[in-house]
Amino acid sequence: MTFRTRSAEETVALGARVAELVRAPAQILLIGDLGAGKTTLAKGIIEALGAARGEDVLSPTFSLVREYRGDPKVYHLDLYRLDTVPEVETLGLEDIWDERAVVLVEWGERFELDLPGQRVEVRLGFEGEGARRIEIRGDSV
Ligand SMILES: Nc1ncnc2c1ncn2[C@@H]1O[C@H](COP(=O)(O)OP(=O)(O)OP(=O)(O)O)[C@@H](O)[C@H]1O
Ligand SMILES: [Mg+2]
Repeated sequence: MTFRTRSAEETVALGARVAELVRAPAQILLIGDLGAGKTTLAKGIIEALGAARGEDVLSPTFSLVREYRGDPKVYHLDLYRLDTVPEVETLGLEDIWDERAVVLVEWGERFELDLPGQRVEVRLGFEGEGARRIEIRGDSV
């Protein structure tokens, strides 16, 4: 499926539709250049999953991972500054491999985390001022 959004708000709204496509355990890879809108989309997904309010969803750029204790539990990772799975393991996230969680992975194409369950890939691209092309594909999509 391919969508076009014309503002950050529209991308947040699209996140709610992505949330409806997934059932934990699941991973959603968010793929796109700096500023493409990965965190913006994650905000909408996490809010629609009921794990946090949108304004409480912060970018994991520096923390590398943020964990939301909802049902399902949601992990939001940013692999930009990481190079290998062992580096991810040092973050103390072993639970993400066993839990029934939804795992959102910015720069998810950098390397494979080998997570269980459904896998969805979202590719975000720039399309002029304020607009984005967002392509969603994967299991059950
Ligand atoms: N249609 C749109 N969808 C999403 N974001 C948009 C859109 N139009 C403009 N923007 C702006 O683009 C920026 C997207 O930033 P965001 O942090 O979501 O990107 P990112 O892909 O997570 O970047 P990074 O790789 O640095 O983590 C925001 O400032 C947002 O307001
Ligand atoms: Mg981001």
